[in-house]
Amino acid sequence: MSYPESHYLSPVWRDGLFDGKVAFITGGNGTICSMQARALVRLGANACIIGRNVEKTDKAAKDIAAVRPGAKVIGIGACDVRNAEHLKNAADRCAKELGGIDYVIAGAAGNFIAPMEGLSTNAFKSVMDIDVLGTFNTIKATLPHILKSSTPRIIYVSATFHYTGLVMQSHVSAAKASVDSLMASVALEYGPRGVNSNVIAPGAIEGTEGMDRLGGEAAKQPNNSLVKEIPSGRMGTVRDIADATVYLFSETGNYVNGHALVVDGGAWRRQPAF
Ligand code: HXC
Repeated sequence: MSYPESHYLSPVWRDGLFDGKVAFITGGNGTICSMQARALVRLGANACIIGRNVEKTDKAAKDIAAVRPGAKVIGIGACDVRNAEHLKNAADRCAKELGGIDYVIAGAAGNFIAPMEGLSTNAFKSVMDIDVLGTFNTIKATLPHILKSSTPRIIYVSATFHYTGLVMQSHVSAAKASVDSLMASVALEYGPRGVNSNVIAPGAIEGTEGMDRLGGEAAKQPNNSLVKEIPSGRMGTVRDIADATVYLFSETGNYVNGHALVVDGGAWRRQPAF
């Protein structure tokens, strides 16, 4: 699907900002990460999109490549972030075909609404495995490559639930708290080698799979009750997240390391968004 550039990028960034850079993006066919990918590719980067579904991942790669003539975007489907070998093969292939890896977005996540008593051990473990083990596997697979880059950067797509805890989201809250913790350890351990490791914590972002899963039909209505709880007075957009990504990956984010950048219109300070 094609989108106008204004859907995923503010008009403040300069063309060619990411010329020669390569981004490796898990969850890259998802609604948020595919727009982060579009923004990076539009501004000059090439990219590798990782997903579980081959068809969807190939299609996403093709759509993302279309934002800039000459862009190289590889889709690597059948890659489950829970499988370390899948990710190592994907990272090695990305580096070989695109000449290295500079930027990593750990965006693959699993989510569904369930009360704690409705969660089997396997259900809890499935989300922990996708979010936490998947993030660890992503870091492990890409570190050898990004450490060769002059601008090694990692962004983890987290959430704000774990700042407060949230009903029906005990599994996701536990997982995202761990993702934030991994981000901090990487910042400390690899900051001295030039790596910037930061979280983006999206709030309620309209039109995303996450909102569909968590907010349902009600959250799609204008001025729904959720919007009334957001201090900035509107739902977030995928562009808000893509712009934050460009900020952190470009020179503007050079001195930002070990930070969780909350992009939620101030919602988590008021109360959990859902
Ligand atoms: C209770 C559930 C459940 C539900 C699944 N399970 N859905 N339990 N309530 N609604 C249980 C299953 O019964 C099973 O446990 C276990 O979870 C694993 O399910 P599988 O389907 O076998 O696993 P898998 O195919 O690996 O799927 C993983 C998944 C699935 C997390 C369950 O939803 C998924 O693949 N999601 C990926 C896409 C996704 O979620 N994207 C949204 C990310 S949005 P048993 O005991 O029966 O074996 C996001 C945004 C957060 O994270 C922030 C938003 C603002």
